[in-house]
Amino acid sequence: MTQEELFKKLVAHCKEYGFIFPSSEIYDGLSAVYDYGQLGVELKNNIKRYWWDAMTKLHDNVVGIDAAIFMHPKTWEASGHVSAFNDPLIDNKDSKKRYRADVLIEDWIAKQDEKIGKEVEKARKRFGESFNEEQYLATSPRVLDIKAKRDAVNQRMADALNANDLVELRQIIVDCEIVCPISGTRNWTEVRQFNLMFDTKIGSLSDGANTIYLRPETAQGIFVNFLNVQKTGRMKLPFGIAQIGKAFRNEIVARQFIFRMREFEQMEMQFFVRPGEEMRWFEHWKNFRMKWHQALGFGEKNYRFHDHEKLAFYANAATDVEFNFPFGFKEVEGIHSRTDYDLGQHQKYSGKKMQYFDAETGESYIPYVIETSIGVDRMILQVLSAAYCEEKLESGEERTVLRIPAQLAPVKAAILPLVKKDGMPEIAREIMNTLKFDYNVQYDEKDSIGKRYRRQDAIGTPLCITVDTQTLSDRTVTVRHRDSMTQERVAIEALPALLHDETSFSKLFTKLM
Ligand code: GAP
Repeated sequence: MTQEELFKKLVAHCKEYGFIFPSSEIYDGLSAVYDYGQLGVELKNNIKRYWWDAMTKLHDNVVGIDAAIFMHPKTWEASGHVSAFNDPLIDNKDSKKRYRADVLIEDWIAKQDEKIGKEVEKARKRFGESFNEEQYLATSPRVLDIKAKRDAVNQRMADALNANDLVELRQIIVDCEIVCPISGTRNWTEVRQFNLMFDTKIGSLSDGANTIYLRPETAQGIFVNFLNVQKTGRMKLPFGIAQIGKAFRNEIVARQFIFRMREFEQMEMQFFVRPGEEMRWFEHWKNFRMKWHQALGFGEKNYRFHDHEKLAFYANAATDVEFNFPFGFKEVEGIHSRTDYDLGQHQKYSGKKMQYFDAETGESYIPYVIETSIGVDRMILQVLSAAYCEEKLESGEERTVLRIPAQLAPVKAAILPLVKKDGMPEIAREIMNTLKFDYNVQYDEKDSIGKRYRRQDAIGTPLCITVDTQTLSDRTVTVRHRDSMTQERVAIEALPALLHDETSFSKLFTKLM
């Protein structure tokens, strides 16, 4: 199965089992907007809890807030979003379709990589056993030629984006002979900048309507509350403020399911430090955040840092944590050293001092900031794409299983009476009633036990607890483990401890310390 087919299956699976639905589907949906179903919301809440507790509980100098989505419009002038939060767009005159100019070029670059891949495969077939891929990549004139063209276009695009040179962006599209995927023509308009913020009106028109924005990031809610939290919490530098909340961007290129959405959720933390100490803290948070990802056990090779070579003018370091999605390595999280830019801008636009008095040095200054920013929805996609697995069993049967880490699994255990008689349902209900105060558990008595196991595998339930004939005499149950499919007999009284051991976050947290 190709990665593309796998991804399609994952999207269908998410819908079939109640994880993720297209928004307002009965009206044919709304592009790049999705709803989380009964299992999706549980997974989402567990991911948010994993992040929140790892950031706040494990760090006694990090506290949380929950700021409003609507903010004073000046916030977005100060942050630079009104003037510079833009995407360069281009339209094809024949298909009337609109594209992001940089994405058209990135797709062209990706095609060059595919071409290189095809060359390698051809050569592998030609040379057989003696094929040395590294040497071939370094010496084949055809590969070197494709690479050189690719790198030159990449560099031209980076320069054009940095210089905000829209004419040059269009020229690259023309020079690379990029065609519209719909019409197949090269009949392009000029490139224009398009602001990504959604706006709306506050107040009624009669009493002077005012344009406000749906926040495009949660970070600014933290910056404007920096002094409130610092003073009321008597926080000393270095300290952090964490927040989880919705953000909105009018993304033009909406694709790859929940990877790029118009309404999404972010988990962001701003860590305030003394100027001059930011690089040490940047490294610290880089390491901590990578450990947080890798503790989930999806394999170290599936993560990498992508350090930014070209930095925003106010940043002095930036990196992305990238995950190997079915459509390749892509950003899940950004870690940025943002200097004193944001607080400085808010000081300038509000006229209010955003300074911290450092009792140790006797100085007042605007702190520097390290930001960690991760999308909840991208994290969900990471977990689902790493967890989705189709297996052929020894019996010849097939099963689809979501190997979601037990701590994040929507349902922790299924309680299954083997048959609907002989007092088994009653004992199963009794087990449910003990466990449900602490865990999300499901009762299921319909269909054969095999079918019920498959249903639980498909939603990623780590444990199935079966009440059977032996239970009636010795109050033990069969516990079946999702991944290994091994079974063990456990006393009913030992179930709470077993569930705690399997699903508690503490096992993950110890890996982070
Ligand atoms: N405050 C910094 C900031 O917002 P960003 O790189 O624009 O930085 C941070 O966004 C993270 O938010 C990304 O790494 C990604 O996980 C998530 N994100 C951004 N745009 C998104 C979108 N349209 N849909 C889903 N997630 C998105």
